[in-house]
Amino acid sequence: MVCNVQAIVLAAGGSKRFNTDQSKLVAPICGKPMIGYIVRLLESINIPITCVVGHQKEKVVVAVATEVSSSTPTFVVQERQVGTGDAVSCSRAHWHADNILIINGDMPLLSAKTIEKLYEEHISTNAAVSFVTAHSNDSAGAGYGRVIQHDGTIEIVEARNFIGDPLEHCCVNAGIYLFNRAFLEKHIDSITQNSVSSEWYLTDLIKIASDQQYKVHTVKASFDEVRGVNTLQELWATEHIKRAELVKYWMDRGVRFLSPQATFIDTNVTIGHGTVIGAGVHILNHTQIGTHCIIREYSTLDHAIIENNVVIKQHSVIEQTTVAEHAIVGPFAHIHTHSIVGNHAVVGNFVEVKKSTISARVKAKHLSYIGDASLGTGVNVGAGTVVCNYDGARKHQTVIHEYAFIGSNNTLIAPLTIHAHAFTAAGSTITHDVPAYALAIGRERQVVKLDYAKKLRPATVHAHDENNTLIERSTQENVTV
Ligand code: UD1
Ligand code: MG
Repeated sequence: MVCNVQAIVLAAGGSKRFNTDQSKLVAPICGKPMIGYIVRLLESINIPITCVVGHQKEKVVVAVATEVSSSTPTFVVQERQVGTGDAVSCSRAHWHADNILIINGDMPLLSAKTIEKLYEEHISTNAAVSFVTAHSNDSAGAGYGRVIQHDGTIEIVEARNFIGDPLEHCCVNAGIYLFNRAFLEKHIDSITQNSVSSEWYLTDLIKIASDQQYKVHTVKASFDEVRGVNTLQELWATEHIKRAELVKYWMDRGVRFLSPQATFIDTNVTIGHGTVIGAGVHILNHTQIGTHCIIREYSTLDHAIIENNVVIKQHSVIEQTTVAEHAIVGPFAHIHTHSIVGNHAVVGNFVEVKKSTISARVKAKHLSYIGDASLGTGVNVGAGTVVCNYDGARKHQTVIHEYAFIGSNNTLIAPLTIHAHAFTAAGSTITHDVPAYALAIGRERQVVKLDYAKKLRPATVHAHDENNTLIERSTQENVTV
């Protein structure tokens, strides 16, 4: 167990290599801000957190505060982002534990095991400072500080200062250090400004310790685990690894992914066994999917609850919505804003449902808009029906009671109530409530004017000859209307 340790998380940097105008520390990785991974990890092993913030500090503070649940991190502001050495120095007033864990905030794949190992070996070797190293012999490790050891000395040479063959010096600094507090207090001010970058490098403390014969200990980790994210390319690589971990986790629990490399799932979702996930599906933001569901290609589930045995067909978007057992949705359906789809209901092609309750066994299978409405059990909504919920100023409710039958191409003008078992005729504009079992017809009667077409085009009539070629011949007939 880790004890008498506190963490200083470095999260003030300007994220210049990210090149997005945003702090990289709030960039989401599988739905969680990057900084969230480190603070959650530290919280899970009961290490109190002080976070050094600076660039876009308001956003970083919110991201940290929303990720931790049982602890209260403290925040320190680094006014000018002039290096990791300066960032640590800013936190000095908050040091209280005997061991100070300093950790970069841009390392979302780190595991608790590595921190625990660092702690155990740091204590057992009685080191003044211990830090984590990894091996990288390709371009992924190019920007990392090189760990150089010779004749019993050790130092970290930053990438910008490093001269030599990186392949020969493939041991890199991960950015996780455990300092004895007395050592840190005594030597933090010995860091000098780097002449190449004009920054104060925390990593200089390793050479300072080594030169003064302090015990320096290193602990190895896999490179993937300690990947730092400085660029969008590194963000992509890191998120790819995280996503692969999540897919494997759900595969082990009986979820089939038809195209795992093209599935996007957040860390905070759940998926039941026997469920099949198609290519290009996005499962986001606390979505819960039950057992034995089928989620077809290119659908997005965002803050959705999908109960057991549901089928979501291709290209459907479900947001802030619950879909009950055995319902069928899509293809190309959009259901959103606190909607409910009842069990065995069918919401089909090109149907949009907004802030509505669709009860059990409702069928709305084609080309409809249902907004601010409540549909009772077994209601049938004909193709092309539009609920007119908005009068330009306010939204109004529509209530359709059980087993009512809405004919095709209806315009339902809210506020409106259609009572149980009522019918509305196809093509109707319904403006008044319809009683139970009634038939409402809200359309012009059809008028048929015989031979009227001849009056409209008196000069010619159209026909086809035996070769199916269009021929026109003149007609002099008079037409009476
Ligand atoms: C740092 C290490 C490098 C190591 C690499 C591992 C230094 C000098 N270099 O380089 O040896 O191999 O991490 O990923 O430490 N930050 C501040 N204030 C600042 C500057 C940075 O809080 O003034 C924060 C950043 O927000 C970031 C962390 O410190 O979370 C590390 O800074 P970053 O710029 O990512 O350092 P690297 O170049 O990756
Ligand atoms: Mg970095």
